[in-house]
Amino acid sequence: MGSTRRRRNGALTRFSFLVSAGPRMRAGLFPATGKPPSMLGGHFSMLAFDSARTTLEPIANAPSHPLSLRAAIEVNAGMVVNSVLELIGRTPMVRARHLDAGQCELFLKLESANPGGSIKDRIGLSMIEGAERAGKIKPGATLVEGTAGNTGIGLALVAQQKGYRLILVVPDKMSREKIFNLKAMGAEVVLTRSDVAKGHPEYYQDLAAAIAEKTPGACFINQFGNADNPAAHEATTGPEIFEQMEGRVDAIVFGCGSSGTMTGLSRYFEKVSPRTEFILADPVGSILAQYINEGTLSTKSASWMVEGIGEDFLPSISDFSRVRKAYAITDKESFLTARELLKKEGILGGSSTGTLLAAALRYCREQRERKRVVTLVCDTGNKYLSKLYNDYWMLDNGFLDRQPTGDLSDLILRPYLRRDTVVVGPNELLVTAYNRMKLYDVSQLPVMDGEKIVGILDESDLLMHVYGDETRFRDPVSTAMVSRLDLLPVNSSIESLLPVFERGHVAIVVDGEKFLGLITRIDLLNYLRRRVA
Ligand SMILES: Cc1ncc(COP(=O)(O)O)c(C=O)c1O
Repeated sequence: MGSTRRRRNGALTRFSFLVSAGPRMRAGLFPATGKPPSMLGGHFSMLAFDSARTTLEPIANAPSHPLSLRAAIEVNAGMVVNSVLELIGRTPMVRARHLDAGQCELFLKLESANPGGSIKDRIGLSMIEGAERAGKIKPGATLVEGTAGNTGIGLALVAQQKGYRLILVVPDKMSREKIFNLKAMGAEVVLTRSDVAKGHPEYYQDLAAAIAEKTPGACFINQFGNADNPAAHEATTGPEIFEQMEGRVDAIVFGCGSSGTMTGLSRYFEKVSPRTEFILADPVGSILAQYINEGTLSTKSASWMVEGIGEDFLPSISDFSRVRKAYAITDKESFLTARELLKKEGILGGSSTGTLLAAALRYCREQRERKRVVTLVCDTGNKYLSKLYNDYWMLDNGFLDRQPTGDLSDLILRPYLRRDTVVVGPNELLVTAYNRMKLYDVSQLPVMDGEKIVGILDESDLLMHVYGDETRFRDPVSTAMVSRLDLLPVNSSIESLLPVFERGHVAIVVDGEKFLGLITRIDLLNYLRRRVA
């Protein structure tokens, strides 16, 4: 196919890379007009997409770019759209090349490429447009939802573009990035407890329902019972996968939160490829894996840290009838697998992506014949930079292992010898020290003169020094630091930390003359917590 032919019907889609077109498949659901989706009307107008083509060919007479760059340009050089909502769906599919998928071929559908960064943009659009069509909401109405974050972002995107007020009830285990994102989009966020189950008034869905009930004219979106949730996947995600895979999909590995993805994909594949196996990836602690593998429904769930998937009840829209097998994946394996995906394939996925990928890899390695397996990168890892992509957070939670030394070094989160400790010099300005404390979210800084620790500066030293005369922020650190230091040899017992903390200090750990790092109360708490985990 030459460069002059790459436009069909005058429109380039995000999938229209320059390719040798394999057999083109149309699932019959897509308008083939190539018009901007907004002009198409109808429920799933976002899907005016063209084809699933894989092998790249050079563009004729365009020798100046390397092939890969030209391919990237072609993939992205779509038409100009009139709203970010038109960019929902039509997400790319990537073949994994460096992960060990045994006999199988593993494909990753990048739902992270949606404008709100997750698969939930699809249902944000379909549920709000569904409510509009059903006459449940009028212009300016208030929408209420309980959400782990991504549905909130999808809804916020659509609500903001269409002019609705949005109140979201979010469990407090969700990452800060998602909450900042929601607030920045104009949503009103109500944080609630993560440690209570369905039926409790503070459970996020129950609280959302209660808020909707007492807010005049409000509409409770209720993704867990909303038929427009699976419908979005039946009409968009499913056909996209089928087309991109040229109709050859042996298995799909997915996660289940509201169950919309599973139910929608099941319904679509039932029609076009009933032999496709459905495999559930579930966090350890959720009740779903046991339900699939043993047929029993536990009344007890435990907590897990992966976000967006796993359940403690069966949502009313769920249809598990096509699910053959489930894998229960620990938080640790999920987070490490997500990090492996970034290292090996360059794909920055969220925490649940790690769960899905871990299950997909297990499934792939168990197969005795070559199968084409699809899994989802459900959201972008940008939402989890402070968590699973933060080595300190991983260490604190016991998800990364360091070789234990058996002494106080095991409690030092940021060892100085590895240049991990945030420090300040005695001649630097107090304002610099203040900025560094804020940037790294620490309350004290060791003051280092070369390799020697000469003092410590904490928030209260700084406050006492500048209070009453703010120009003192420009004094050197040495004028405010404490220089009579309470040093603790590295081979001291853990108990010896307690009197240091009781005096309100942090422990400064040394090996002879060498400064090794600080230990704070929270470091000791994390250490003790890891021992019981
Ligand atoms: C972050 C996240 N949210 C939601 C889902 C899917 O959930 P649902 O069952 O609600 O469609 C997934 C996985 O598929 C996910 O990773």
